[in-house]
Amino acid sequence: MKKSRLPTIAIAGDHAAIDLKKTLADYLRQRGHEVKDMGPKVRKSVNYPDFGKKVAKAVAGGEYDLGVLICGTGIGMSMTANRFRGVRAALVHDSFTARMAREHNDANVLVFGARVIGDAVAVDALESWLSSRFKGGRHKERIDMLDE
Ligand code: RB5
Repeated sequence: MKKSRLPTIAIAGDHAAIDLKKTLADYLRQRGHEVKDMGPKVRKSVNYPDFGKKVAKAVAGGEYDLGVLICGTGIGMSMTANRFRGVRAALVHDSFTARMAREHNDANVLVFGARVIGDAVAVDALESWLSSRFKGGRHKERIDMLDE
């Protein structure tokens, strides 16, 4: 039987997200994914759109299969990523919203607010997103409408 390849994942954040970004990137690598950390590397104040755009472009262009973005609330990163055609970024808060983001919305970028969510809840949500599958059908018709 053919073994399917694990999705490759680009991850980025801002200064509010340095610690959670490392936790999530380590988790993804342990899970066997190829992970590209698109920064920032240091804790100094940065502008979230600079880093959100890198991941959104990488996913929109097919360079990486999926993306993870983190800022303080997750709001700025969501706004940034959803400006890119083909990107469906979902700000999630727990494993339920993460699973729905996959099953109903086929989110290809998962977004977290590092100042809102605990590390363990974020890891749980990430696992839930990765282990769920898009349900298609009426949900496919709806996500197709986003690009019309
Ligand atoms: C940075 O202070 C903060 O504004 C940013 O991390 C994010 O929450 C924006 O949406």
